[in-house]
Amino acid sequence: MPIYECIKVETENRVTTVTLDRPAKRNAMSPQLNDEMLDALTRLASDPETDVLVLTGAGESFTAGMDLQEYFRDTENDPVLSERAKWTMREWSYNRLRFFPRPTIAAVNGWCFGGGFMPLVSCDFAIAADEAQFGLSEVNWGILPGGLVTRDVVLSMGYRDALYYALTGKPFDGKRAKEVGLVNDSVPRDQLDAAVAELTGTLLALNPHTVRATKEALRHSATMNYEQATDYLAAKSAQLSARDPEQGRKKGLSQFLDTKEFKPGLGAYRRAAQDA
Ligand code: COA
Repeated sequence: MPIYECIKVETENRVTTVTLDRPAKRNAMSPQLNDEMLDALTRLASDPETDVLVLTGAGESFTAGMDLQEYFRDTENDPVLSERAKWTMREWSYNRLRFFPRPTIAAVNGWCFGGGFMPLVSCDFAIAADEAQFGLSEVNWGILPGGLVTRDVVLSMGYRDALYYALTGKPFDGKRAKEVGLVNDSVPRDQLDAAVAELTGTLLALNPHTVRATKEALRHSATMNYEQATDYLAAKSAQLSARDPEQGRKKGLSQFLDTKEFKPGLGAYRRAAQDA
């Protein structure tokens, strides 16, 4: 993995943590940071050491959104630079992150504004610090939520809450983010790492092939009509059964029906040591 200047990438026990790392600028997303994120996610997508990806921010911020100087002002008179900056942002924070082939968790440690909602809603899970402050602040400075935030925020929050926060620009904390469905959970800041570790532990105990296929199935079928989804999901199930090197389906059935050693309703089947 290259040495980056605006992000940090660390892998430990099959969990890769990517940290937006410009704390002096509240981790605002500059074109350089976006280039680095695109590069890192492209590499990590095929990294055999990464089974879960966590995205967080250095210091007191998750991210203060797009870098108002470097992303907006410095590119406004250069259409090529501006187009390139927009493309890179959209590519990492929407395409690469949303369809990252492993589960992804946003650990929202602090400020999360504007364009920061894009990586936030693209992650599969989000856990916030109660003290974190969120805001669709674009309306406060004369633009509308850009990228795909406007479209996607209504899928993560209730429709009325999305309208309320997008139209008023009012900030809200982690507890409120949990209430409106923007994050899965909110915990005191000093318990954030533990809450993320508990979730990664749950994910790591599962068959990674099943987790990946389940994620792909949910992500892709969401935009299909019923006929397409029926066919796609049947094909996806067949693909998983054929490709799963652990043969999880067979093991699960056998451990429930034959050896009666587990109950699928209450937890995962026992994986062999060489599977885990
Ligand atoms: N783009 C560029 N620079 C930013 C930034 C952003 N989005 N957010 C913060 N910074 C910079 C500030 O300009 C300042 O730089 P300087 O020290 O060189 O002057 C530094 O980060 C610290 O910011 P400051 O405002 O002093 O920190 P704070 O802790 O008092 O406030 C925020 C933090 C996040 C509330 C405030 O910085 C802010 O409102 N940022 C913009 C948030 C926003 O609306 N983003 C939407 C963009 S789409």
